[in-house]
Amino acid sequence: MKHIIAMGFSLIPLAAPAAESGNDLLARYAQQAAEEDPAFNGFSAERGRTLFATEHPHGNDPAMACISCHTEDPRGAGEHRRTGKRIKPLAPSANPERLSNAYKVEKWFTRNCQDVLQRQCTPLEKGDVITWLLSVK
Ligand code: HEC
Repeated sequence: MKHIIAMGFSLIPLAAPAAESGNDLLARYAQQAAEEDPAFNGFSAERGRTLFATEHPHGNDPAMACISCHTEDPRGAGEHRRTGKRIKPLAPSANPERLSNAYKVEKWFTRNCQDVLQRQCTPLEKGDVITWLLSVK
């Protein structure tokens, strides 16, 4: 057992994802979007911005949206709706660490889409949001 645990740890540095760019992420989501819908013909920054700003009322939260925590300007800092914790800007132009780690991006899409839409975002939606975030200078 000990041996297995030690092996697990020694593998972590090797498994750590290399830095990626927003465009790497887009390429992957484009592939997934095309698999889901053969008519897929590209992402849209405008659709991404709309998804981000649209309120999805549910249950005890009448105005839940991505902007509830991130604000409408992804170049500025946000504030977590429930904890009040500061959230650094999402646009890579304002925060170069953003969209550079596929694992992290997927983790937060999974959590935040569930929170806001009460379902997972589609590859098309993720690609649209990333396209918009990359377009904000
Ligand atoms: C309840 C608050 C909250 C809401 C609502 C929310 N987010 Fe987030 N989001 C966070 C927090 C907290 C983080 C991670 C903190 C950090 O990295 O600074 C994060 C991180 C992210 C990231 C990670 C980017 C990166 O490269 O580090 C993306 C992308 C993202 N959110 C997109 C969205 C989208 C799209 C929505 C709407 C569907 C949304 N968020 C709604 C709180 C929220």
